[in-house]
Amino acid sequence: MAGRYPAPWLEELRARADIVKVIGSYVTLKKNGHRYVGLCPFHNETAPSFSVDGQKQVYHCFGCKAGGSVIQFVMDIERLSFQEAVAFLADQLHMPLPEMQNDPAYERKRSLKERIYLANKTAAKIYHQQLWKPEGAHILEYLQKRGLSDSVIRRFGIGAALPSATVGRQLTKEGFTEEELIQAGLMLNREGRTFDMFRNRAMFPIIDAYGNVLGFGGRAMGDVMPKYLNTSDTPAFNKRYNVFAANLLRKARGLTRVILVEGYMDVVALSQFGIEGVAATLGTALTPDQARLLHRFAPEVHIAYDGDRAGQKAILRGLEVLEAENVPVKVLDFPGGLDPDEYIRQEGVEAFMALKPISGVQYRMLRQKEQHDMSTEEGRTEYAKACAVFLRNVKEPVELENHVKRLSLETGFTREVLMRQIGVTTAAEPQKPAAPRREGFRQKAREAAVVDWNARTLLAVLATGRLPRDIVSPEEFEDPVLRSLCESLANGESAAGLMEQQVDEAGRAAVGDILSISTEMDDDGLMKMAQDCVKKMRISRLERELDAIQKNLPNLPNDERAQETQRAFALMKQLSDLK
Ligand code: UTP
Ligand code: MN
Repeated sequence: MAGRYPAPWLEELRARADIVKVIGSYVTLKKNGHRYVGLCPFHNETAPSFSVDGQKQVYHCFGCKAGGSVIQFVMDIERLSFQEAVAFLADQLHMPLPEMQNDPAYERKRSLKERIYLANKTAAKIYHQQLWKPEGAHILEYLQKRGLSDSVIRRFGIGAALPSATVGRQLTKEGFTEEELIQAGLMLNREGRTFDMFRNRAMFPIIDAYGNVLGFGGRAMGDVMPKYLNTSDTPAFNKRYNVFAANLLRKARGLTRVILVEGYMDVVALSQFGIEGVAATLGTALTPDQARLLHRFAPEVHIAYDGDRAGQKAILRGLEVLEAENVPVKVLDFPGGLDPDEYIRQEGVEAFMALKPISGVQYRMLRQKEQHDMSTEEGRTEYAKACAVFLRNVKEPVELENHVKRLSLETGFTREVLMRQIGVTTAAEPQKPAAPRREGFRQKAREAAVVDWNARTLLAVLATGRLPRDIVSPEEFEDPVLRSLCESLANGESAAGLMEQQVDEAGRAAVGDILSISTEMDDDGLMKMAQDCVKKMRISRLERELDAIQKNLPNLPNDERAQETQRAFALMKQLSDLK
């Protein structure tokens, strides 16, 4: 699972990413011994059953059985893959990824990125301040005329690039070089002179989930083209990987859906009306990376693009992208070609909330229906054929039934004929395996939790790393999962490292359980505990063997029975020696 990362490098990453600090930035933790406890972020609870062990660098929830190393935590909380979580942590810790370690440009690129973030943050502050000054009054007035309240302007940090455009100059006074400002996309060089990129525009800072200001979208005053000028891609910003308002998505915990809109203004307007969890792409069509990014914040995405022709086409494309990434998606269809900004202002927040999101298939059928003359037999036939193509992809029989019933009413074809057109009886493709869900992991973990308590305690003691690694032989463990864990520990693996090596859920659950066992005692105590466990494991193994022999004896022929009786006596002797 650790794949392309060398184990020592991963060990260093885990050591430097202090798990208590990392988790502490998501969960309020209270110290309790060398552990920290808090409310589990992965399931609803009122009493804390979530604990973080700073010594072993692992976390564990007694409630939902989530658990693992700091990397596992980042994977779960940020919904990242293992590789992404590693890159995420490495970036925060300024640790070059192994493949970059030999890249002399790495350090330069990294520090340039940091400089750009800082320049952008400073620029955002200046733009925002200028909005409230007399020179920015016309821009503030524009925003107010568009219906924005002061508080939503502050929430989004909206600002003003002045016609006189002095931000570049102010930033150079703050110590940024012109080269840095050009790299940041804040200035541009033309014929040997540098200019501010943005002038006389309302400025929308684009902020990522971690609070970095990546760039800006600048709305023109009046009919100046382009209507929105966006920061071009820079070493710190790629429009295809980011969305507008990711910072607010991250703050809004427990979203049931993300609403994806087209425009910055739509995000801001919906937020002003109290609709949380809204994001927009950055002037390009939705990309697969953005689809996955949105899915990190909520289980479902609702596309709420403009109701005009262009918006409708974009919805169909967006559906394809989200479906291809296995992101559950629905559509909010606005009547009359309105965009969400216009709709919520005209119809009010209740009307907006009352809009029913419809499935992708239903949306496609709606659009098809508009393109056919439903008053003619030919139109209805073509419509039915087109719908049959979409309906082939509906895997849930009950959903399919609903669509088919509706289609039958619309077209007059019987259910049976439509079903044959869809070809479900013959063409049912094998279903793509669904992406693994954390919920599934927890369920299996609960089932796998029935393991020998003594063996687990023994491994917990070994995992402290405070006893000689060879005091227990792996042979003491009957369970193959536990035995291989013992071997890894004997080979010098850290407790946290064990977690990542577990390729299956049973292994992960076992490690989670093991690491959650308390081992707070001095070394003598630990040693006693280990010896005690070994003894009990041996006793229980002997007892089980004896038991098996006794059960089997009556079925044996005489000669074998005598032999087995001998063996039983020997085992009994061993047992009494142990006790
Ligand atoms: P719209 O033209 O729908 O803008 O473009 P809007 O958000 O409704 O803005 P207002 O209400 O007219 O002020 C939607 C999005 O497309 C991108 C921007 O991200 C914008 O928010 N866009 C649009 C550009 O990047 N450049 C443009 O010139 C126009
Ligand atoms: Mn608009």
